[in-house]
Amino acid sequence: MQIPTHLAIIMDGNGRWAEQRHLPRILGHRKGVETVQSVVDECLKLGVRYLTLYAFSSENWGRPQDEVEALMGLLGSFLKKELSQLQKQGIRLMAVGELDRLPKSINKILQDIIQKTADNDRMVLNLALSYGSRNELTRAIQSLGKEIAEGSLRVEDVTEEAIGNALDTQAIPDPDLMIRTSGEMRISNFLLWQLAYSELYFTEAFWPDFSRELLYKAIEEYSIRQRRFGLTAAQLRSEDSIPGEGNH
Ligand code: IPE
Ligand code: IPE
Ligand code: MG
Repeated sequence: MQIPTHLAIIMDGNGRWAEQRHLPRILGHRKGVETVQSVVDECLKLGVRYLTLYAFSSENWGRPQDEVEALMGLLGSFLKKELSQLQKQGIRLMAVGELDRLPKSINKILQDIIQKTADNDRMVLNLALSYGSRNELTRAIQSLGKEIAEGSLRVEDVTEEAIGNALDTQAIPDPDLMIRTSGEMRISNFLLWQLAYSELYFTEAFWPDFSRELLYKAIEEYSIRQRRFGLTAAQLRSEDSIPGEGNH
């Protein structure tokens, strides 16, 4: 089985999982945290090097206040519990998104864990928090524009590489495989630039039901796909390496 170097997941369907059981949505989110823990463990065993989890979008701020507060509470307790586990497992925590919109106390714990796990090198767990791709691109364009206005960057130096380096994901290769749970077939403002050549996989399962077996099924399907990066199949057969995006 070919293991993706970078696996990105849109963890969707917590609310519907709960509603189907006539439970409050927050119980679905709580159950979803358990799935996060088991997926992290499985990815580590499989040898995935980067795991990006879409945990809270820019648009999710618009949900009812009690749900937003409950989600922030869950995030805080997850982070507090997670540090020792991350250290034990050699996992480095990273985060992308507009982190200064998070409650101060949570951003503080997050920054503390990011710093304390910075030397761990078995896997990167990258959380997309208060993340929206259009927001990320807007901030990147603003920072490049500022450098041009100050005279420290020339317009012709605004290359694909320079743009990639101005994004929150600068230190992380593009995803090889993107999985979305819950049957929705859309990107919902997730990694628009970075997913250019990623393989996409959709499963009907709600996130709380996303099991080890379903993860394996997704990676098995990924293994048999041919990534052509715009070339022909014949070209790929005659070449050892594939040029271009996503070949990490
Ligand atoms: C994903 O589950 C978690 C977040 C977006 C925070 P949802 O809360 O979107 O669950 P559904 O899509 O309403 O079922
Ligand atoms: C995407 O799920 C965001 C996360 C999983 C964090 P949403 O449930 O917010 O997306 P839409 O609204 O169905 O597109
Ligand atoms: Mg949803």
